[in-house]
Amino acid sequence: MDEMGEKAPGERREIQVHQDLQDKQECQDQLAPLGRKETMALLGNLDQRETLDHLGLQVSLVQLEERAPQGGRGAWDLQAHEAPKENLGPKCVPSAGGVGAPGMQGSPGPTGLKGERGAPGQPGAPGPAGLAGPAGAVGPQGPSGAREPPGLKGDRGTPGEKGAKGETSVPEAATLRQRMTNLERVVQRLRNTVSQYRKAVLFPDGLAVGEKIFKTSGAVKSYSDARQVCREAEGQLPSPRSAAENEAVTQLVRARNKHAYLSMNDISREGRFTYPTGQSLVYSNWAPGEPNNRAKDKGPENCLEIYSNGNWNDIECTEERLVICEF
Ligand code: GLC
Ligand code: CA
Repeated sequence: MDEMGEKAPGERREIQVHQDLQDKQECQDQLAPLGRKETMALLGNLDQRETLDHLGLQVSLVQLEERAPQGGRGAWDLQAHEAPKENLGPKCVPSAGGVGAPGMQGSPGPTGLKGERGAPGQPGAPGPAGLAGPAGAVGPQGPSGAREPPGLKGDRGTPGEKGAKGETSVPEAATLRQRMTNLERVVQRLRNTVSQYRKAVLFPDGLAVGEKIFKTSGAVKSYSDARQVCREAEGQLPSPRSAAENEAVTQLVRARNKHAYLSMNDISREGRFTYPTGQSLVYSNWAPGEPNNRAKDKGPENCLEIYSNGNWNDIECTEERLVICEF
């Protein structure tokens, strides 16, 4: 038995270690010179990092196990293996001491370091149901319920503030523009039509003054017949209310070289000439001495003619004069 006397004869301890030695030869070089004493010291302090450091080995113990004795009694082999995946690497084998007498049963070695984590075990059977947990947080709001029938109409609220003026909607503006364009086209067509009719109406016996149009039929008729002609044409006998209108009628008279009837008469009341509306004259152009209501050897003169110079003269209504109508 060696001086430590704690190892059983023939017992062999194999120490598998991870080693960080990069040079496997260095491992052997450092372990080989170790004598028995050093080896045992190493074995007895395998959990002491300091010892390992003292030996210059950057190793960490991963496993220490007993094996059946191999080789000679008391032969202690310290084998430093690499990690399992590299177990083909070289071993650091310190030289053992001389073969001695079988030693006594050694005392159990120090507790090994914690082994590597084993493979996960099979899942265990489900445990019994736990107690009910605390109430959970309030959930999201549920859907709206069925709608109740509407209630009575409420009181009228106070008027809100007047809002800003809104912009004209594009569709409305576009519609108005389109309608305006259409109307402009219609108006233009009407103007063209009016211009056309105006020219046709005034040619060759018409004259326009302001908003009035005077036109002669060329016929010569009594006052009542002349008046009827104009009425049937939806016009009336001329009622010049101004010098301009009177001049227009005069031009037609001159063109036909025939005195023409005007619309005014004093049939209702002698001496008071009126328009067909009954209104008294607002304009007159009597020839000097007229109206004299006196025809030589004839009756009263209640109708009115216009000379080619534009002057007026009262005459009997049975006289035949040029028919001019006012429109
Ligand atoms: C003369 C008179 C006129 C009268 C007419 C009748 O022209 O001057 O006043 O009306 O004759 O024919
Ligand atoms: Ca007269």
